[in-house]
Amino acid sequence: MTDAAFTCAEKITNALNGLKPKVGLVLGSGLGDFVDQLEDARAFDYTDLPGFPQPGVEGHSGRLVAGRVNGTDVACLQGRVHVYEGQPFQAMQTPIRTLKQIGCDTLLVTNAAGSLMTDVTPGDLMMIIDHINLLGGNPLMGDNDERFGPRFIGMDGAYDADLQAAMRNAAKDLDITLWEGVYLAYTGPSFETPAEIRAFRTWGADAVGMSTAPEVILARHCGLRVAGLSILTNLAAGLSDMELSHDQTLHYAALAAKNVERLLHAFLGTLNHDQ
Ligand code: HPA
Repeated sequence: MTDAAFTCAEKITNALNGLKPKVGLVLGSGLGDFVDQLEDARAFDYTDLPGFPQPGVEGHSGRLVAGRVNGTDVACLQGRVHVYEGQPFQAMQTPIRTLKQIGCDTLLVTNAAGSLMTDVTPGDLMMIIDHINLLGGNPLMGDNDERFGPRFIGMDGAYDADLQAAMRNAAKDLDITLWEGVYLAYTGPSFETPAEIRAFRTWGADAVGMSTAPEVILARHCGLRVAGLSILTNLAAGLSDMELSHDQTLHYAALAAKNVERLLHAFLGTLNHDQ
């Protein structure tokens, strides 16, 4: 499985025509259209990349799209897979390791999440400063591939402090409200019960979603710096009268997309390695 990352990286690098992606992005629910912002875009279907899993959820498609945003070369994973699809915890190994192999040193993960902070308005953004992995498994389980990283890794400071400062500054300059908090990954696909949400609040969670923790663990294993951004599409179960659904997630993710685009444009500009 892991050799696939080398095969994919070679295939992609040969077709990039001088682009040198430094930042990998995982585009969450409703954010796939961010690739329209890319200059000199080049797309690769996951079906042509061995080891890339096929996303099966509405709002996710399966392409790696490389290009340039505000002077920074990026490679976007347009579509991820989730544990609730029945995919193994290791499913995102090849995509994340491919980003590393094509030269990325940073990973920006995005997702849609429910908010445990009651002052939030649906569509607000939250910078992830840490996570709780409640998926019941870890993407590094199984044989360790030493070419990417060691058997045991620390998760202290997994969300990079300098990247947090850059995102905070970008939001401030643009006058975009940016909450900060801890993201809890829950398997789904059922949304949480109100009792679970009450429990998660006591654990220190600020947002809950069904993804992201595996990609972040894989990224830290192979030495990528990580930044994370959630679109808070709803108040979590039991915290408002709104009924939770995937349609609602996509609706509020679309409403927030403009602010996400502005924020990512400015944030990625600060990561321009040529400056
Ligand atoms: N829970 C889990 N995942 C989600 C939610 C939620 O409330 N909203 C968007 N994704």
